[in-house]
Amino acid sequence: MTTTTMTAPIVTTRDALRAQVAGWKAAGARVGVVPTMGALHDGHLSLVRMAKSACDRVIVTIFVNPKQFNNPEDLEKYPRTERDDAAKLAPFGVDAIYVPTPDQIYPDGFATTVSVAGLDTMLCGAHRPGHFDGVATVVSKLFLQTGADQAFFGEKDYQQLQIVRRMAGDLDLPTQVIACPTVREASGLAMSSRNRRLSPGGAERAAMLYPVLRGMADALSQGAGFSGLVPQATEQLQAAGFDEIEYLELRAASGLAQMEHADRPARVFFAGWIEGVRLIDNVPAGPA
Ligand code: PAF
Repeated sequence: MTTTTMTAPIVTTRDALRAQVAGWKAAGARVGVVPTMGALHDGHLSLVRMAKSACDRVIVTIFVNPKQFNNPEDLEKYPRTERDDAAKLAPFGVDAIYVPTPDQIYPDGFATTVSVAGLDTMLCGAHRPGHFDGVATVVSKLFLQTGADQAFFGEKDYQQLQIVRRMAGDLDLPTQVIACPTVREASGLAMSSRNRRLSPGGAERAAMLYPVLRGMADALSQGAGFSGLVPQATEQLQAAGFDEIEYLELRAASGLAQMEHADRPARVFFAGWIEGVRLIDNVPAGPA
C-alpha cells in the first residue's frame, strides 16, 4: 500500500491569509498557529501535533525575522530550508503554511516596536539587546495577521514564552498562548536548529547539560540553596566543553524574579557556548 501526503498550500500575503482564515471562522473552526523561523525539527513538529489536536485548522508560519537578530552574520547564516520544511509538515495535514514576504511584515515606513518592559532585560535579554523587542513585534503581527485563537510555543524558549504571553495579555490580543514541553534528543539535548552546527562529539558533550540542570533541580527540591550549587555545576559544564557560560540562574517560573531557594515554582536557566554555538536550556525546579 502506498500513502501519499499533500503539502499544505503556501500563502505569502496577509490578505490571502486573512481571506482563508475568515472562511474557516465563518464555518465555526478554531484556528491555531505555530510561529517558526523554519529549519523545522522534531521540537517544532511536536508543537504542530499539539496544535492539530487542539484546533480545527492549523497555520504554521515561517519567517526569519531580521528584527530579532542582533548579529547580522547570524541572520545571514540562519538556515533557510522552506522546501524541506514543507515536506516535513506534509504528514501533519496542516491547513496553511504562511511564508510572508518581508514587506508583508515590515512594509515601507514601518516604525512600531512592541517592547515588554522588565521581562526582557535579564537572561537572554541581557546578552542579546533588542532581541525580545524583535520577537514581541513580529509575534504581535503574526497573531493579528493570522487571527489565531491559540498559538503554540515551546518551553525551551521559556523567557520568550513569558514575554509573548505578557504581550498578548497586555494588548488584549484574542490569541491564547499555549506552552508545550521541551522536546529532547535521546541523549537529553534539547532540540534546537542550532544543534546541527555541532560536531557529533560536541553534541554528545553538550548533552551533559541536561543531567547537570536536573541534578541542580533535584538538590533544590531537597532544600539546597542555589548559589551553593553553582560552582560544581559550572565545573561540570566546563569539563563537558562549554567554554563560556552566559548565565546559570534560578528564577521564578512566573515573572522570572531571581531566587535562591525553590520554595515556589521556579526554573533553572542556562545559556552558554560550546564549539562556537550558543545553546540555551531550562528545567523546572521546586513545587509544580
Ligand atoms: O522561536 C522562534 O522561532 C521565533 O522567536 C518566533 C517565535 C517564530 C518569532 O520569530
